[in-house]
This record gives sequence, C-alpha cells and structure tokens, in this order.
Amino acid sequence: MPAVPILAEPFVRIDHSPLWRLHAAWWAERGAAPFATGEVPSLATSNGVAASERAAFYAALVARLTERGSIADDAPLSVLEIGAGDGRFAANFLRALAEGDAAARSLLARTRYLLTDASQRVVDEAAASPRLAPWVSAGVVRPARLALDAAAPAPTDAPLVLVIANYVASAVPAVHLQRHADGSYRTLMVQLSPRTPIPRSLADVDVEPAWEPVALDACCDDPRHAEVIGRLTRGLAEVTLAYPDRYLDFLLRLAPDLAPGGVIVTTDCGHADERALYGHFTPALHTYGGSLTEALHFPVLDAFAAALGWGVARTDEPLDPLHTAILIPSGPDAAVAAAFDAHLDTGRVMALMDTRAAGAYSLDDGEHRRALRCYLRCVAMDPWEPEHRYRVGLAAIADEYYALAIHHLLVGWDEDLERRWDIAFELGRAHALVGEPDAAVTWYRRSVEHAPHPVTWANLAHLLRTLGRDAEAAEAERRAAASAEISGR
Ligand SMILES: C[S@@+](CC[C@H](N)C(=O)[O-])C[C@H]1O[C@@H](n2cnc3c(N)ncnc32)[C@H](O)[C@@H]1O
Repeated sequence: MPAVPILAEPFVRIDHSPLWRLHAAWWAERGAAPFATGEVPSLATSNGVAASERAAFYAALVARLTERGSIADDAPLSVLEIGAGDGRFAANFLRALAEGDAAARSLLARTRYLLTDASQRVVDEAAASPRLAPWVSAGVVRPARLALDAAAPAPTDAPLVLVIANYVASAVPAVHLQRHADGSYRTLMVQLSPRTPIPRSLADVDVEPAWEPVALDACCDDPRHAEVIGRLTRGLAEVTLAYPDRYLDFLLRLAPDLAPGGVIVTTDCGHADERALYGHFTPALHTYGGSLTEALHFPVLDAFAAALGWGVARTDEPLDPLHTAILIPSGPDAAVAAAFDAHLDTGRVMALMDTRAAGAYSLDDGEHRRALRCYLRCVAMDPWEPEHRYRVGLAAIADEYYALAIHHLLVGWDEDLERRWDIAFELGRAHALVGEPDAAVTWYRRSVEHAPHPVTWANLAHLLRTLGRDAEAAEAERRAAASAEISGR
C-alpha cells in the first residue's frame, strides 16, 4: 500500500483532509480485489435485479427520447457508468439487454457502454474480468479512467443518454455542515494524528473532530450550492448535513454532454427522510476496508434539482437504507418520471437484500430449512448470481437435500466465472454425502486448484483411501499436511 504523508497538521475541513487521499490511494493500490474479498459490499447495487430494472428503464428512456426527437432512430447511444468498481453491474446490465426481447437486443446493438472509475487498476481489472472481457473485445464496453474531480468527463462519440452512478456519490468528499437556530453555520474540521510513522491506511490515523463557524456562501466553490443548502435547511432549527458538493459539481460539468432528456441515475446508501438531518451530532466515519463512505441524504437531490430547474424523481421509503434518484438536467419529463415509477421504484432490490440477510441469520442460527427457503427466493429473484446458488447449496446440504444442492451448485459453478465462491468444495461434499465418491473426488480436485485448503485435501485423501486409490491418497495426505502448515490450520 502506498504511504500517504501525514504530518501533524492543524485542523482542516474534513473534505480537504488527507483521509480522502488515503481512500484514493487504497482504491488505486487494491484495484477490484476488495469486491471479491467482500471488504467492500457491492451486491446491493450490482445484482441482477437492479441491473435488469435499469436496463428496462434505459429501454423506456430511449423510446421517450426518440419520440421527442432528442435522438435519431437506430443511431448509436452512450451509457456512462462512473465509479464502476469490478464491473458486475455493467455485465448484468448488458446481459439483461442480451437476454431481453428483440427491442432490448436491438438497443444493445446500438449501445456503447463507457465503464469508468477513478482507479486505473480497478478499470483494468474490471475490463479483464471473464464477465466483461468479451464485451470489451466486441467494442461494446469501453473502459476508461475517470475521476469525478477531473475537469471534464470522458468524451463520447454517440449521444450520452444515461449515466449510472452506483454507490459512488457516497465515496467522494462531502462538506459537513451544522445549521444553528440563529441561522449561522459551522463546518466539520478534523485533526489527524498518525499512529504509525508512515500511515498506509485509514486505520493508521486517529481523527479528532471540531466544528468551526463558516459563512454559508464560503462553503462550496459553486455559489448555487449555498442556495440549495438554504432551501434544505430553511425552517429547521438545528441541522447536521453532509452535502455532496463534489458529486454535484461533477454532474454540473457533465450535464451539457447529455442528450436533451438524458438521465443520471444515482443509487446509494443513504436516507430519504428529512428527519435524518435533525439535531447536532458528529457523524461517525464509515469505512469499508481502506475506503470511506458517507451516507447520501437524498432530499439534497430534490433541492438541487429545484434550484437548477432539473427534473427529479426518487425513492422515499424512510426505512430503506438504499435509495435511487433520477435527475434530468434538461428539465422535468412526466413520461420519464412514469418510467422511474414503473422500473426503479419497485422495492424488489430491498426485498432481495432483506431475504438474503434473513437467509444468513437463519443459517447462523441452525435454521437450515428457513435459510434454504430464503436463498431459493433469492435465486428466483436473481437467478444469475452465483452467491445465491452457493448459499442454497450450503443450506440444502445442511438440511440433507443433496440433489437440490447439487442442482443449484452446478448452475452456480457455471455462473461463477471468477471462481469467487468455493462451489467445487460444496459439490464435493454433496456428492460424498449422497454416496457418489468418484464425482466427489472430481469436485474436490477442482476445489484445490483454486483454493488448496487442508480440509479439502484431507476429505480427498479420505475418499481416495475408501476407493482403494492408495498412492493418490498418500499424496493428498501429504498435501493436507503441507497446506495445514502453510495456512496454520
Ligand atoms: C464503493 S465502490 C462502488 C463500486 C460499484 N459502483 C458498486 O456499486 O459496487 C466505489 C467506487 O468508486 C471509485 N471511486 C472512488 N472515488 C472516486 C472518484 N473520485 N471518482 C470516480 N470514482 C471513484 C472507487 O475506485 C470504487 O471503485
């Protein structure tokens, strides 16, 4: 990990602090790995349900833009994804079009998908992933580095109709403000003290917060933000707000490049309810791995759109931790708002995530049958996701439904191109338990190719002994001992 020089500094505004340099350095260094390891969660924004809904919204949007004459029939179109991470959303979005009806497939043939991220390594690894590499070779996906603080977005050779921002507005600095009853404002400052001589991650620094007075019109570079913040906080006595000015500045720079009627879709963790602002508090810093995240207050987008005359629609269920908003820089469009209601405000993504969480709790509690029902529902909602198939396999084996486990694990094996889940191990277990030792040996051998775990070698050795394949068994026993020594297990 690169070191970020941090001297004992005086208090600085949190959005200007080296915390954000550590965050950027972490993404630059780690690339797409944190998604595979689960250090950074991404299923909520990149699952097949979310991607299919956005693909259906895209089709409805293109129909509307064609009807109003913004784009020509059959002309190429650009979709821009910012902060694209490991590219799973992109792969699912394109798959939804490819497996859709004739209209979806012809829309896909016109689509140029600009896959961008601030980290060159993230972009390179996403583009090289087995899910996206074929789309890159076919020229449909065009990978490029794009940081939201860059002067201008990537140029496009086809009208830009849709921008996808999944879980990235919360990953760029925001200015933190408190409004007091007398109408004055304070901003959050931090003083960092390195815990180690050369800090390499957010865990290596202590952060001391302090709120200092600030003039509202000196908070943000663009004077329009003061108006937006004024609208949001008017009439409220005590307010604490993380205002995403860097993200909004990027959208302001991007807006002229959008085709008339083009839409920005923001999906992020955050809240939909004004009550989240009430009172004075110092927000906790949320970190995933070495990256920072700040919950997005979605009513900001209403106030921003109102101040600029942009169209806006968003989800507003107060209990949901994940929200989606569309912004239309050229102004409100009732047909596009109706498409938002039909395709993006469905609650299906939250249903998927809640069912998955219920499955995990049930499995932990030993409620295997309930876990199995939950994960089968996840599969029904999101059939392309190998994680759900893997977990169906775990629960079904625990509940002794071996044939069911084998069926779903085999589908999962075909879907899990990155070999993120040790599905081969579970297939080995299921076949062994159902009394098919030869098949079990085959799958355990596949498992150790990707994950040479001592338990897998030991299971393999045991099966090979029972099959009378003693020389292979002895070799597997030797490998079990060696890998146990290396892994310390
Ligand atoms: C939390 S991840 C989300 C990835 C993906 N969109 C998803 O939903 O799983 C945030 C991504 O934003 C990227 N990122 C961070 N700061 C950025 C910036 N200033 N400009 C563009 N991308 C940025 C990171 O490299 C990372 O891939």
